[in-house]
Amino acid sequence: MATGVPSKRRASQKAYALQYAGKLARADVLALPAAEPVEIAIASEAGRLFHGDNLPAMLWLRSQPDVRGKVQSVYIDPPYATTMAFVDRDANHAYDDHLDGADYLEFLRRRLIVLHDLLASDGAIFVHLDQNMIFETKILMDEIFGRENFHNFITRKKCNTKNYTRKCFGNISDHVLFYTKSQEYVWHRPYDEWSAEKMAEEYPCIDEKSGRRYKKVPVHAPGVRRGETGKPWRDKLPPHGKHWQYLPSKLDELDAAGEIYWSPNGNPRRKVFFDRSKGIPVQDIWLGFRDAHNQNVLITGYPTEKNFDLLTRIIAATTNPGDLVLDCFCGSGTTLEAAVALGRRFIGIDAADAAIKASVKRLREGRGPMGDFVGVRSRKKEPLEVHDLFTLAASNNSTRRDVAGA
Ligand SMILES: C[S@@+](CC[C@H](N)C(=O)[O-])C[C@H]1O[C@@H](n2cnc3c(N)ncnc32)[C@H](O)[C@@H]1O
Repeated sequence: MATGVPSKRRASQKAYALQYAGKLARADVLALPAAEPVEIAIASEAGRLFHGDNLPAMLWLRSQPDVRGKVQSVYIDPPYATTMAFVDRDANHAYDDHLDGADYLEFLRRRLIVLHDLLASDGAIFVHLDQNMIFETKILMDEIFGRENFHNFITRKKCNTKNYTRKCFGNISDHVLFYTKSQEYVWHRPYDEWSAEKMAEEYPCIDEKSGRRYKKVPVHAPGVRRGETGKPWRDKLPPHGKHWQYLPSKLDELDAAGEIYWSPNGNPRRKVFFDRSKGIPVQDIWLGFRDAHNQNVLITGYPTEKNFDLLTRIIAATTNPGDLVLDCFCGSGTTLEAAVALGRRFIGIDAADAAIKASVKRLREGRGPMGDFVGVRSRKKEPLEVHDLFTLAASNNSTRRDVAGA
């Protein structure tokens, strides 16, 4: 295992940026025309749903005092520059993903600039993409949010193993970039539950006196220190190039409490007890959040719909109850449903009619098992009021579209 020792070298101050044609200055992006979007009346105390292009809509949200600087967490899952058109499970057109190259990057960058402006100073943003544009987007996010506010490049297993015919390794991953607006941000570390097997593997020792399960960890850390932690404790110097992790007084305290293990040749190690563990801290590879992968998974049928539990993890980690969550590419409303389930407020925006219908239906009725979308559902037309959503709105001059009974 590599052991790095912190150095005092200052980070390079030389800035870098991604260059491409048509890159507008930040101030010019924020000065683009704002437009109040059409609000869909969802009769929900929890949130607001808007229909329309998210750039003018978010520029308008900047003028709303209860939104600007109040968004605690943003999750976006924008188009991925696939140059494809997407249809739902009934083969109805949902949305086009036709921008690519510099056009795509500038499309996304402008929205990221406005999202940065809407975020609370202790807020977080998660951008979900696949391998196609994630690296270019990382550089854009470094520019907009600051490299120091980058936290994770999360790799998610998105689907089951495929029979890949291309001459390369099968692609079953996509990625989520996690940034915050500042260094002070809301963070509730998520934990996975221990399995009996994993617990026994990680915490193999049993304390003779108490019968408690524990693991042994070093009481020293890399780096030489001249103060107390660099001096002998119980006549023992820390190993070469290391220092004690605690002051001698703290080590004495731990020893008196039976929390130091002494090896047969007299080396101290700290006992870390299993019963103090909150679980397995979540790392940056997420295997348990595949998108719809069997007939029992509950879905809306909207294309590119994301895993619901993925969204609850993200929102729970970066918000408190009652906080405002924004998804300006909300599609079928996965983020919105997760926000409601966790007692957070939401703002959802999408430009596609199909997305608004899927979100409204989901917020009213929830999701259905994936199996229901195969055959049966495509033959049977559902008598849903949400299908009337846009015809109703066309005969209504107001910017608010009402869904009867929603
Ligand atoms: C990958 S899908 C999002 C899926 C969503 N995460 C879910 O779980 O259902 C991308 C969405 O972005 C929307 N979209 C694309 N361009 C947009 C724009 N300029 N303004 C608002 N929505 C847009 C599309 O209509 C589509 O619903």
